Amino acid sequence: MHIGVLTGGGDCPGLNAVIRAVTASLINDAGARVTGIERGFLGLIERKSRPLDLASVAGIVNLGGTILGTHNRADPFHYFGAGGADMSSQVIAYIRELGIDALVAIGGDGTMAIAHRIASLGVPVVGVPKTIDNDLMHTERSFGFDSAVAVVAEAIGRLETTASSHGRVMIVETMGRYAGWIALEAGLAGGADVILIPEIPYDVEAIAALCRKRETAPGYTIICVAEGARPAGGQLTVAALLADSPDPVRLGGVGHVLREKLQPQLTSEVRTTLLGHVQRGGSPTAFDRVLATRFGHYAAQRVARGEFGGMVALQAAQCTSVPLEMVAGKTRTVPLDHPLLDAARALGVSLGH
Ligand code: F6P
Repeated sequence: MHIGVLTGGGDCPGLNAVIRAVTASLINDAGARVTGIERGFLGLIERKSRPLDLASVAGIVNLGGTILGTHNRADPFHYFGAGGADMSSQVIAYIRELGIDALVAIGGDGTMAIAHRIASLGVPVVGVPKTIDNDLMHTERSFGFDSAVAVVAEAIGRLETTASSHGRVMIVETMGRYAGWIALEAGLAGGADVILIPEIPYDVEAIAALCRKRETAPGYTIICVAEGARPAGGQLTVAALLADSPDPVRLGGVGHVLREKLQPQLTSEVRTTLLGHVQRGGSPTAFDRVLATRFGHYAAQRVARGEFGGMVALQAAQCTSVPLEMVAGKTRTVPLDHPLLDAARALGVSLGH
């Protein structure tokens, strides 16, 4: 058995832990041969791959990023490098030439969508969910999320000491695309006073009123805002329009927009920190290393049993599999009845309205 492994989309902490678990499990348990595809689906288009053995995956469990490299615009069905041409037949030819029997695709919703299309062309595929955004359908968790939340929570703690010293309103903007998971969990973990998520449009006047009240005591306010948050009746803040990308816009900058709206209404100074890619870099938390290891091992087991066409998922804290078509191109946002929203309200945390 010869298995190809690739990491697609944006990187996140824990990818190397999955590569290690998939590779070592396939070699040790199934006697398989493993090939790493470089830079996600780009490697299948540009014919770049290399063998993976036990030595090449040793010592990487704690390493951020991906040893295979990745690309978030390399769609073989619409290749940006060839004017949007369909390169899928060349990709299938390369897979056949390598003698790869099945593919393990580690990625987010875009990667799962491509994996699903490649599977429909006759390549057996197992998907593994990654994203710091935690927005993949039908899995309670994707690895990378815990690491991102830890970074943001720590940043909020650091911002709080300087906010209280200067009597400022500090806005911290998180990633997360159209889902508020990072802002919600990190905001709660970091003790933010206001948490703004895409699922609940915010009211600037209500936030300003709260900040004014807090100017008297305790004298400062921490606002944690997700990049996809928007005012009621208002628009998303778009940093850039992206051509040839599965996601047509890059979000970012809502923290600055909010600062401009709040500042004229407040006595205290309002400052914004965009955490950006700091949230995606660095070593995975122990939780993410374990989750990634479980996912990788489970993916290898499914490959060895010949169970294809699904994405590994965590449901009721157990590994399971869901059909790729149930995940491809979909987004799991924060449900409005989520218990963490109730908890936030009960704690007196404003959700922006
Ligand atoms: O999906 C992960 C993510 O980090 C999002 O939270 C963010 O909007 C996006 O990727 C940023 O992508 P890029 O690295 O292309 O700027």
